[in-house]
Amino acid sequence: MSADRFVAITGASSGIGRATALRLAEAGCRLLLGARRERELEATAEGARSLGAQVWFRWLDVSDPGACEAFAAEFQRRSEGSLPVLIQAAGVARFGSSARWDEDAARETVESNLLGAMRLASLAATWMRGGGGRIIHVLSIAAVRPLPGSSVYSASKAGLLAFDRVMREELRRSGVLVTSILPGAVDTPIWQPGSGPNRSDMLPAQAVAEAIAEIALAPQDRAYDELVLMPPKGIL
Ligand SMILES: NC(=O)c1ccc[n+]([C@@H]2O[C@H](COP(=O)([O-])OP(=O)(O)OC[C@H]3O[C@@H](n4cnc5c(N)ncnc54)[C@H](OP(=O)(O)O)[C@@H]3O)[C@@H](O)[C@H]2O)c1
Repeated sequence: MSADRFVAITGASSGIGRATALRLAEAGCRLLLGARRERELEATAEGARSLGAQVWFRWLDVSDPGACEAFAAEFQRRSEGSLPVLIQAAGVARFGSSARWDEDAARETVESNLLGAMRLASLAATWMRGGGGRIIHVLSIAAVRPLPGSSVYSASKAGLLAFDRVMREELRRSGVLVTSILPGAVDTPIWQPGSGPNRSDMLPAQAVAEAIAEIALAPQDRAYDELVLMPPKGIL
């Protein structure tokens, strides 16, 4: 089942993207990994290889249209003959008051979390339409619930949710299934040390990775449109 999947993962150098890469390596998928920090990306690739997977990785900044085109082209070429799955976990979180948000931080957030994900999803969808596939986006509960201090981040995630909802309906009859995953707080390096809720209350990255993997490996006779995945205590 899993060996027929070719999975491209953005944000694979850390956190949820890295945990997902390792989980899918265990399941026997072939992988293409992307992120900006090459040493960390290589460490994920080595970890996945040590689990027996065939893995490629390349530098990717999703805010760079040329880098997205090159990543999508390699994804298309390497996935020939397999069912392609695109998992987009790349993202940044910058927190601050909605009354005084920082222009540069907002631009980086929208470029990485919204425009970058839209860009790569569109590039992949153009050729996936021929033979089917899956596109899985890691959004956030912040897309649908008001979390004080997260206005710009929430706007980026709500924007991607709106994009996904339209893309899902446009693509589903062509066999390309789009999933939006909305996790609550997850224990990853996105949280600065000492900031945010109690880490032991957060979801482990492994839990999110397992949910993503279940969708990535599912037969094409079922669509997972949206999944809310929360720590047992809810919003922390
Ligand atoms: N942790 C949480 O509480 C939580 C909750 C809900 C949703 N999420 C979402 O889950 C996703 C993964 O976050 P995480 O918690 O795993 O955080 P993380 O450990 O900081 O990982 C974020 C990943 O995104 C990559 N990235 C950021 N900007 C990028 C860009 N412009 N181009 C390419 N890659 C980029 C980073 O790699 P490089 O820096 O190497 O590029 C890194 O691999 C994010 O979209 C985040 O919003 C997280």
